[in-house]
Amino acid sequence: MKPGNVLMVCLGNICRSPLAHGIFEHLLNDESVRVDSAGTANYHSGASPDIRSIATAKAHQIDISQQKARQFTRNDFEAFDYIYVMDKDNLRNVLAMAKTEGERNKVRLLLETEEVEDPYYGGPEGFDIVYKKIYTACKKILAQWNP
Ligand code: 4NP
Repeated sequence: MKPGNVLMVCLGNICRSPLAHGIFEHLLNDESVRVDSAGTANYHSGASPDIRSIATAKAHQIDISQQKARQFTRNDFEAFDYIYVMDKDNLRNVLAMAKTEGERNKVRLLLETEEVEDPYYGGPEGFDIVYKKIYTACKKILAQWNP
């Protein structure tokens, strides 16, 4: 897999994808690659990440506090090479916006065979599970970029 611009996508863009954005950017440490995140819904557009995501990232020395939520748009199919979605609902919603095979091929589940479940309505431990799942997936992608 070649390096390319990465977009992380969840529903609200305040819990999971901001963490994925921060973790991937931190591990990659290469400003020539664009890393961003977006939500399929616009409920939280313009909002900072959830305080529980900010705290979880901070516990691992990653600062995501300056991120702002935005909604996924069709322009993202052009701007990004890899569009990683957190769960099957996001997958369905993003694929429904794709118009070409090339666009569809950019979209995949971050964990390939598993979902990163929505931690919004649960307790803080849910955010640790999300962090670990995302971290493992990001490491795996980077290992494929730099074999
Ligand atoms: P996210 O979590 O998709 O990981 O950002 C959610 C955030 C907000 C809501 C749902 C999920 N919400 O229903 O407002």
